[in-house]
Amino acid sequence: MTHIGARSRTPAAMMAALLSLIAATTLAAQTRGTFVVLNGQDTASLERFERAHDRLTGSIETRVGGRTSRVTYSILKDDRGRPVRLEYSLTVPQRGLSTNAFDVRHDSASGPVMLYEKESAFAGPFPAGAVPLLYPLSIAMLEDLMDASRGSTASRSDAPVFVWGNQPTIGAATRQVARIDASTYDVAEMNGLRLTVNGDGEIVAGKGLTSAVTIIRAVEDRPVVDFRRSPAAPGESPTPPMGWNSWNKFGCRIDERLIRETADALVSSGMRAAGYRFLNIDDCWEARTRGANGELVADSTRFPSGMKSLVDYIHSKGLEAGIYSSGGTATCQGRPATLDHEAQDARTFAAWGFDYVKYDNCNARNRPEQVRFKAMIDAVKAAGRSTVFSICEWGEARPWLWGRRLGGQLWRTTEDIRDSWLSVMGILDQQVGLEAYAGPDGWNDPDMLEVGNGRMTHDEYVAHFSLWSLLNAPLIAGNDVRMMDDSTRAILLNRNVIAVDQDWGGRQGYRLRDDGASEVWAKPMSDGGWAVVLLNRATTPASIQVQLSELGMTTPWWKRLFARTDARRVHDLWTDERTLVHGAVTREVPPHGAVMLRIE
Ligand code: GLA
Repeated sequence: MTHIGARSRTPAAMMAALLSLIAATTLAAQTRGTFVVLNGQDTASLERFERAHDRLTGSIETRVGGRTSRVTYSILKDDRGRPVRLEYSLTVPQRGLSTNAFDVRHDSASGPVMLYEKESAFAGPFPAGAVPLLYPLSIAMLEDLMDASRGSTASRSDAPVFVWGNQPTIGAATRQVARIDASTYDVAEMNGLRLTVNGDGEIVAGKGLTSAVTIIRAVEDRPVVDFRRSPAAPGESPTPPMGWNSWNKFGCRIDERLIRETADALVSSGMRAAGYRFLNIDDCWEARTRGANGELVADSTRFPSGMKSLVDYIHSKGLEAGIYSSGGTATCQGRPATLDHEAQDARTFAAWGFDYVKYDNCNARNRPEQVRFKAMIDAVKAAGRSTVFSICEWGEARPWLWGRRLGGQLWRTTEDIRDSWLSVMGILDQQVGLEAYAGPDGWNDPDMLEVGNGRMTHDEYVAHFSLWSLLNAPLIAGNDVRMMDDSTRAILLNRNVIAVDQDWGGRQGYRLRDDGASEVWAKPMSDGGWAVVLLNRATTPASIQVQLSELGMTTPWWKRLFARTDARRVHDLWTDERTLVHGAVTREVPPHGAVMLRIE
């Protein structure tokens, strides 16, 4: 272990040096692999981490920033001794109990992969300063898992670096290191910190280093547990799904020509390349009665070639296909629906080749939500095709509490969206407090996009798209993509904004400040920075400010001693303008509009 930066001999620094020595003795026998970078000032946590990491169940108390939190955790193993699930409960004063879990999938190609699951009982937004409380414990558990996974045959060319800090400015993140040569690795930049480390875990070069960073462990031959999730596995949704759906623009006026032309347009417009990969057919595709064997059949006037050939066409364009039904006796438009036909309909959808099922809630005959949705989720799984499952329950029975457990990848949180500012703002208000429930493989769905449907202004659509992205919402376009004007195109294809939506970061954005008509929404990004939306709900322009300290972006006193080192880079995601700011960012925000920024 190497202690770097300031040469002061504070008790913390001495403790860090001592731990360095202990760790260094073990490093000799170990070479390269996993590096854990820890904030060296917090030696107490460091010690706890060292003590705790060789146990498979335990309880740890952490004190950060004057707050004490207690965590109990346990790791469940399969009969081959491999960890398959990690559960932990965290009690934070004044916030209550949070229960979280990771499932561990053992995949021979990529090694163990941790599947993040979050079911939190927190009532409100997690305060920015409290977030890092979770991480030291996660890392301890991660190490447990890695220990317990010994013997796995996994191997990777790039090792991850687990970076943890007890200050929001350092953030907490998992970093891939790029191999420079046989023994040197480059740690990606995070908050101005960039390191080159060698196979012994020593920092051999660095930029913007502070005494607050210490590499505590470099370990060889441990299988890598990928905290960031593997690349999109079929049937799962590690990032919010993106695509197009027929309902918002076309309602029941759909046919196979529209779907084929939309497939073509998704490709030619660049939408597919920007990430919109699902083409979802909503209600009214169904014939009015089931077939001779009780199976669902497509409306033969509107879909004369049948669903199989349509799905083949969608697939041939490099897209995936989605279909719709309802957990009731009829769909919302009165077509045959799936209740009590789950297995048969799921097999039909799989046979046609659908990759995504949206399952609605009409005509449910008072049968319990969870039972109905679970029956179809299980049937879809049993049908054997990897499928994204979209729970469309309108938020009535709080599906964010059970959607993930049942196996859904997204759940509607509200009634249907309309192409109006009032509707968008109303839905937005209903998202407050739901951020705790979203994460890889389980997303809050504030409903599909209305961008480009013509009843809102350009600024209103910019606000709608900015906010949906900040909320990690599924980005399912709902306009006619065959004829988009430049304004619509510029919004739906803004890759910088899409990147915020697709950044899992473990956390959906939330309302940071509500000053009436002016609001500040913020989302911690996995690079340690923030995405911010300044929202003006008023009908006149407003000047809206966010203090960097509100985001926990403070600069240590010793850094401030040197001129202007507290500057932060700000990227305006709609004007593409890049500036440096000190202390606060202020922007003029148009009426019914938003400014979206990334602050590094
Ligand atoms: C419900 C859903 C909508 C749409 C219609 C179709 O209202 O919430 O998204 O699927 O049904 O009938």
